[in-house]
Amino acid sequence: MYWNRGARHAFAAAIIVFSAWAVAQEGRGDVVYVPTPQIVVDEMLRMAKIGAKDFLIDLGSGDGRIVITAAKKYGAQGFGVDLDTVLLRQARDGANKEGVAERAQFVEQNLFETDLSKATVISSYLLPEMNLKLRPRILALKPGTRVVAHDYHMGDWYPDEQKDIVVPEKKVGTPGVSYIYLWVVPSRVAGKWQGQISASAKDVPVELAFDQLFQILEGSVRVGTQSIALRGRVTNGDQIEFSTPAKAGPGNERYEFRGKIAGDAIDGTVRIGEGPNARQGTFTARLTARGEMRRASDEVATR
Ligand SMILES: C[S@@+](CC[C@H](N)C(=O)[O-])C[C@H]1O[C@@H](n2cnc3c(N)ncnc32)[C@H](O)[C@@H]1O
Repeated sequence: MYWNRGARHAFAAAIIVFSAWAVAQEGRGDVVYVPTPQIVVDEMLRMAKIGAKDFLIDLGSGDGRIVITAAKKYGAQGFGVDLDTVLLRQARDGANKEGVAERAQFVEQNLFETDLSKATVISSYLLPEMNLKLRPRILALKPGTRVVAHDYHMGDWYPDEQKDIVVPEKKVGTPGVSYIYLWVVPSRVAGKWQGQISASAKDVPVELAFDQLFQILEGSVRVGTQSIALRGRVTNGDQIEFSTPAKAGPGNERYEFRGKIAGDAIDGTVRIGEGPNARQGTFTARLTARGEMRRASDEVATR
């Protein structure tokens, strides 16, 4: 699922084609107007699992098709922003025609100045450097906020889900193919945690240290006197899973943790050992020292 070298080259080429083709098109601001094919819009909204309770913000909304589809097909609410007044008028006309003008609104505004705080879903079809510029603000949103983007990535924040769709009529980017990326804003767990494992008659103290790069976790688990490296991830914003390697060393057992993050607390289950002798238990941990989320290469705009 992660960004591979081949995809990076394809994307670098895609940016050039996107830019060159689009010079003659409408649109204003930092990227020209190229509409997302409707089949791709439908898949983006499906991947974002959009529903009637969601509030969608489309950054650079063009003719409004993403917000209008979300309102019409899924009953979602939201708005799009754009700087092109002709496209904004087209989008408002489209929302009126589809009978969703109350739920799908369009605002003349620079997307870099847009207040994103109401969003539960953000959509974009912007260039990678624009996505990267938006990234710190997106990461500061409520954990669980979904971001769905057409064709362009977000640097080393690898997508939680990725889908390639064949779109024969597509002439821009990589002709004939659309790439869709979905990210979920992760809870911040970087730092040190203390708690206990309840898997036998007596609770055992546990210490966790998480080094976090977006949704990816590395670090260590200390159970009693044993300290073992861990690897894991934050999923769906507030779910966490991490485990120690199969062969953790003499006397060490394999631990597999799954839990839910709620602010400074994590509660969940743990599986200890392997095979028929594995034991099930529960664990709970509290944050004792918050760490910073690691940023590997914020400065890398394109690959
Ligand atoms: C590639 S189009 C995508 C349109 C639409 N989201 C879609 O997927 O069909 C990008 C849009 O962003 C708008 N845009 C570019 N820079 C912008 C900015 N700084 N603020 C707001 N809109 C901007 C352009 O006018 C254009 O309509």
